[in-house]
Parts: sequence; C-alpha cells; structure tokens
Amino acid sequence: MKVRLHQFLSRTGQFSSKREVKEAIWSGEVTVAGSVVKDIAFQFNANTKEVHWMGEPLHLPGLHRTYVLNKPSGVICSRLNRQERSLGKHSVFELLREHVDDSTYDRMLTVGRLDEATTGLLILTTDGHLVHRIASPDGKVDKTYAVKTDQPVPEEDLDTLREGLAIELEENGVLSTYNTAPARVVVEEDGTLLLTISEGKKRQVRRMFASLGFEVVDLHRRSIGGLNLDLLNLAEGDSVEMDQRLLCQSIFNES
Ligand code: URA
Repeated sequence: MKVRLHQFLSRTGQFSSKREVKEAIWSGEVTVAGSVVKDIAFQFNANTKEVHWMGEPLHLPGLHRTYVLNKPSGVICSRLNRQERSLGKHSVFELLREHVDDSTYDRMLTVGRLDEATTGLLILTTDGHLVHRIASPDGKVDKTYAVKTDQPVPEEDLDTLREGLAIELEENGVLSTYNTAPARVVVEEDGTLLLTISEGKKRQVRRMFASLGFEVVDLHRRSIGGLNLDLLNLAEGDSVEMDQRLLCQSIFNES
C-alpha cells in the first residue's frame, strides 16, 4: 500500500507540525530507499522502502508486529508445502496463529531459521527490514547456542572451534568448503558447551561439530545479541509480543 511522503513523516510522531515535515523534506534531509526525495507528495510503499531522516531510520508506530518464541523441537521454520503437510509436519507459524489476525499471520517472517530439532530463541516479525538488520551476515550479530554432543569434546577441538575451521556446505546439491570465523566457546559446569558465532550458514553449528567427528544431540539457541531467552521466562512453544524498539535495544545493546 502506497503512502505520500509527507503523510508518512507526520504519522511517525517525530515532527511537531506539518510545516516541520515539509521543511525536512524540502531541505533534502529525507531519503527514501537511499535517495533524497524533495517532493512532499512522493508516493512509495512503506513496507518495502526504508525512510531516513538525517541518517536515522523512521518507522510508522504499530505498523509491524514482532514476537519472540521459545521454539520447541519438531516444528519447522517455513510455511508448510503440500508434502510437509501430508507428512504431518508442523511450522513455527502455527504456534502464533491464535495470537494474531489473518493479515499479520500471512505477513509473518522468521528472523533466520532453526533446524526442526533445534530449540530456543526465534524471532518472528512482519518487518522485513528488521529481519535484514538482525540476520544479514554484514550485521555480525552474535548468536549463542547451548550444544550437547554424543561424546565429550577435548580441549584441543574446542580450540579448533575457537580458531575457525573448514566445514562442508551444500546448496542446491552443490558441495563447497567454508572456513568459519573464530567462535567463542565456554564450557559450563554440567559440561554443556556454549558456542557463540555471528555467522549463520545452514546447519552451521551441527556442521562445525561434524567436521571434528562429533554429533550434536541437543541444540538450543539461548541468545541473539544481548537478547537472552532465559530472561523472558517462556516455556517451550510459548511466545511473547515485543515492542520493536525494546527488542532492538536488547539485541544491539542500544541505549
Ligand atoms: N546451527 C545449526 O546447525 N542448527 C541450527 O538450528 C542453528 C544453528
């Protein structure tokens, strides 16, 4: 749905008068999708184009809905296709179904993906910009996973994880080798390994351990940036709606 630039700016709540809105636009302080726009009546789709005022992103309040879910094992992070449905699979979106209206449900995206068997912190949002900000490899947002393996991992292998190692990736049937960036690894008292990486290759954590000869038997995402699932007290399968500004403050440690 298209909106005029001056109406968009007025609705952000950042300007005290229509005059101030117009002056911001006329003086070239406002960009839409990276280009300065001086036409107050310029029309654009606010769902797909980002507006900045003096370099700061502007958003319409209440336009988007964002949830944090404690993902249980056995649900997948995509919409179900016919085959998955016939196999009796379930998707993370179904866990939010009763909390949101039809339009929100249809627009919901996951911020990155967790494997079907992986549990823990998953963000779902209608805001594609938020997905990009958190999940883009350029953002280098840390993700911390609690990992249990089939056998104890010796210290020298933990050092290899810390330094970075070669893993095998597979995309559309094509195999390639990828060198992971250095990771942080901490061993908790009960032997659980805490692995922090800022990359997000498909099944990366499982592949990192597989490359050292270990099988991951339990994988749980504890945190994304400064947002820690433990602090939200969510049972598996439960979700909570979060204000986007607060969510970003937690993840990016913004004040
Ligand atoms: N790495 C994996 O291997 N699986 C996940 O679900 C997340 C990260």
